[in-house]
Amino acid sequence: MIVLGIETSCDETGVAICQNSQVIESHTKTQLIHNQYGGVVPELASREHEKYLSEITDLVLSKSNLELSNIDAIAVTNGPGLMGSLLSGVSFAKGLAQGLGIPIIPVNHLEAHLNSIFIEHPSLEIPHINFLISGGHTQLWLVNNLFDYKLIGQTLDDACGEAFDKGAKLLGLPYPGGPEIDKISKKGNPSKINFPRPMLQSDNFDLSFSGLKTSLLNYVRQNDNYDLNDVCSSYQEAIIDTLIAKFDKALNYYEINTGVLCGGVAANSRLRQKLESLTKNFYFPAMKYCTDNADMIAFLGELKYKNSKQRKNNYDVNVFSKM
Ligand code: KG4
Ligand code: ZN
Repeated sequence: MIVLGIETSCDETGVAICQNSQVIESHTKTQLIHNQYGGVVPELASREHEKYLSEITDLVLSKSNLELSNIDAIAVTNGPGLMGSLLSGVSFAKGLAQGLGIPIIPVNHLEAHLNSIFIEHPSLEIPHINFLISGGHTQLWLVNNLFDYKLIGQTLDDACGEAFDKGAKLLGLPYPGGPEIDKISKKGNPSKINFPRPMLQSDNFDLSFSGLKTSLLNYVRQNDNYDLNDVCSSYQEAIIDTLIAKFDKALNYYEINTGVLCGGVAANSRLRQKLESLTKNFYFPAMKYCTDNADMIAFLGELKYKNSKQRKNNYDVNVFSKM
């Protein structure tokens, strides 16, 4: 079976082809137009998707030596995400699918992140705990089985990616802030400033990052000549320590030894380095599967289609900003 995957939930335009659980070709175009505004501008994001989807689809097809007539189904992200962006991808998928007379497989973007680890580790141990850490979400999931997930903890306010991005903006760094802070932190001292590690004492697996952001703001206001390297490094350390503490607590509570990370923040080099020093088994998707991509959409789409009892064309598929 050959599935064409389309991802346009935010500011990455992605197209990929998955054949029998192997991603054979993919391309992701990151929209740089937003950098000058310090964050994603939804209207511009949808227009950029519209502009490039067709071109990227042609590119991916030609690189894989396939034609549209070889595609059996189209998997497309239908939420959660920016409404306009999602509509760009879903409308494109509807046109293609109806023209070709093949089904659409609607894919939940978060579920695709959770399953992205199976692209490279198809026989990864289940149950495991999957920590989805991205620009929009910070969620701990207990993965009991294929398509059987339980949400066991989440952020009560900002997502950890937002903590990186908003912190970076406050420090005058470009968007997206996560990779910038990651890079600058390598030159700083992570123990120089003792930023708070919120909710570590709470008896659940929930997290909070808005107070940490406020304490960064206060620090910057009170210290005119701060060392940017040390501030970034210490701020990043507070985010990472909070993530690791909650992750470890959940693994211990459920007596599970395998932890998986996914989403954009899983690309953070310090987080990866610190988790390696723990005794449990941690799995990270390759960098290209951490941030938004169509590989995970095509991959999960095929998996869902093969496991579905009722196969529909889904030409009436809708989009959802929250799911
Ligand atoms: O999963 P993703 O590409 O998009 C969402 O679905 O949100 O995640 C984007 C987030 C942004 O907040 C970005 O700053 C963060 O991932 N990010 C990082 C790193 N690379 C991307 N955060 C920390 N360190 C990184 N190296
Ligand atoms: Zn994402």
